[in-house]
Amino acid sequence: MANTTIASAAELKRHLFYETSHSPALADLVGYEKAKDIIDFCFIANPYYPTAEMLRDMAHNLPNLIKSYPSSSPIMSQRNLAAVLHVSPEKLIIGNGATELIVLIDTTIIDRFAVPIPTFGEYIEKLRDQRDAELYPLDPDRRYELHLPDYLDWVHRRNLRSALIINPGNPTGQFISLDEMIDFLNAASDLELVIVDESFIDFAGDPIPSLIPVAERFSNLLIVRSMSKHCGVPGLRLGYCYSGNLYLLNRMRRFIPTWNLNTLAEYFLSLLPQTDAAYHEARKHLMADVRWLYESLKSIRGIDVYPTGANFVLFKVKTGITASELQLRLLEEHQMYVRDCSNKVGMDDRHIRVASQGRDKDSRLVEALRVLLQ
Ligand SMILES: Cc1ncc(COP(=O)(O)O)c(C=O)c1O
Repeated sequence: MANTTIASAAELKRHLFYETSHSPALADLVGYEKAKDIIDFCFIANPYYPTAEMLRDMAHNLPNLIKSYPSSSPIMSQRNLAAVLHVSPEKLIIGNGATELIVLIDTTIIDRFAVPIPTFGEYIEKLRDQRDAELYPLDPDRRYELHLPDYLDWVHRRNLRSALIINPGNPTGQFISLDEMIDFLNAASDLELVIVDESFIDFAGDPIPSLIPVAERFSNLLIVRSMSKHCGVPGLRLGYCYSGNLYLLNRMRRFIPTWNLNTLAEYFLSLLPQTDAAYHEARKHLMADVRWLYESLKSIRGIDVYPTGANFVLFKVKTGITASELQLRLLEEHQMYVRDCSNKVGMDDRHIRVASQGRDKDSRLVEALRVLLQ
């Protein structure tokens, strides 16, 4: 059973000292110049995509793109994305990052919803009213793992009509199999809305264990995905929602600002169909790197490494040192920036999250941790 002590988002947020739950951007901490010399393991994105050729192509077109207005209709972009997802374009909404869509979900379509914590902070920070989220604290002694049948029991007992699942979880990396997700959705058919954030699902397996191919079967299902992570383009601001329920999508669509996507982002989307093979190669390359990182971290004494289905790994520091002390030492002594998860609602002060940055940089991180912890 998960820890059932319930606290409101407002109550828990008081402990954040008015910060957001995101880590400060590296450039904000040390300036743009110095940031170049530091390896940023907070940065959760695919290092192998867009390909060098795509980047050159975008750079070449940049002057023209900057001087143009984006399209006033999202349909072309939806078609480009739909082509690689193998879905109907009208069942997609593309946002200025998944964050734009999360804020929209929070403010326009949910009343009260269940949120397992720790979570991705935007889900609980942008609510109309902090009481709109009922927090379901995951048990630190069980590695903050979400057990779906317990969660659903709790959602029903609290008479909630909507629930969030992030799969693979952020910050835990916990992956819930497609079969378990389908069982949950079958059992949760009485809920009005089940939001499943699959921002990291492309790193969870091959074929990708996404709910998208079965989404038509569940009218209460809304899938959210950030393209920052799996497509490696956080600066372009691209994310999308997919649902088989057009009514639900249309309720959201009304609030999407015209020109919410910039021209560079639209241009990037137009490159997706012709670079899909390179994308899947990049995804699999990164998955192999993450497996290596996970296994290597496991060989370090003094940390407990959590299984992951994402492109990052969460670990707990078991020696006397806190996560923030370890973060500081890595920054000062090894020029590496890792995510101290202490300011995440519902998480203790012992957890660090590291996103794979490719084998070479990852191996330097493993060595640095060995030096500091053994
Ligand atoms: C689970 C999850 N969803 C959504 C997002 C939002 O991503 P973006 O707004 O960059 O698309 C993030 C970012 O870290 C995330 O971790």
